[in-house]
Amino acid sequence: MLTFSSLPSTNTWALEHAGDLQHGDVVWARSQTAGRGRLDRSWVAPAGTNLTVSVVLHDAALTPLAANLGQLAACAVVDTLTEVGIKAALKWPNDVMAADGKLGGLLVEQSGRDGLFVLGIGLNVNVTLAELTAAGLDRPVTSMRDLTGRTFDLEEVLRILLRNLGERIEAVRSKGLGLLWEMWGRNDWLSGRRVRVTGPARAVEGTYVGLDRDGRLRIRTDAGLEEVLWTGDVSIMAR
Ligand code: BTN
Repeated sequence: MLTFSSLPSTNTWALEHAGDLQHGDVVWARSQTAGRGRLDRSWVAPAGTNLTVSVVLHDAALTPLAANLGQLAACAVVDTLTEVGIKAALKWPNDVMAADGKLGGLLVEQSGRDGLFVLGIGLNVNVTLAELTAAGLDRPVTSMRDLTGRTFDLEEVLRILLRNLGERIEAVRSKGLGLLWEMWGRNDWLSGRRVRVTGPARAVEGTYVGLDRDGRLRIRTDAGLEEVLWTGDVSIMAR
């Protein structure tokens, strides 16, 4: 484990040092000054409160699963939360939700080297709702502390998370994605909701149907057509 008191971004650092890092290496910063999220958003975590880590994956067998690594890691985060008594759910493409707020997110980036991925995990652990509100975020968020009234040992949560991540990767490698989608279906935050998915080129509205066997989002439009999407940002619409 490479532990830093502060980095701009663990993902950026891991990508810059990818040539020196090995499969399974973990980069943990107790504080990030320029944390990055999906879709060029920033990721806010007050110093010392939350988990901001990147895990290096370097394994050619994972290349065909590139599009699913964030989903796999989101499942490992939900496993971890379940272990500490928090009921969380999965929101496509790879967000972790609880009580209508975002609890965690994943940012998977590929370095130039074949089969080398940086899996960035942000999990709101001990941040307070007041701190999150002060950060002026534009979407509802929550934290493990906010949900339970307890504070958590960051190292302990990370230890459980890394174990679950290892187990999930091993299960997908040996048995394929089926079990992952089974779990997703049982913990799907979008289940039955009307959604708007904004993609790079256009937006699609309709009823969320679930994931297909490759982890793409299925949506039934009001015209009765089913669309299948690889990327996008999902917002919930009034029913
Ligand atoms: C998202 O939901 O938009 C993804 C958030 C990912 C945040 C993590 S924190 C550790 C790693 N380093 C970063 O700069 N981002 C990821």
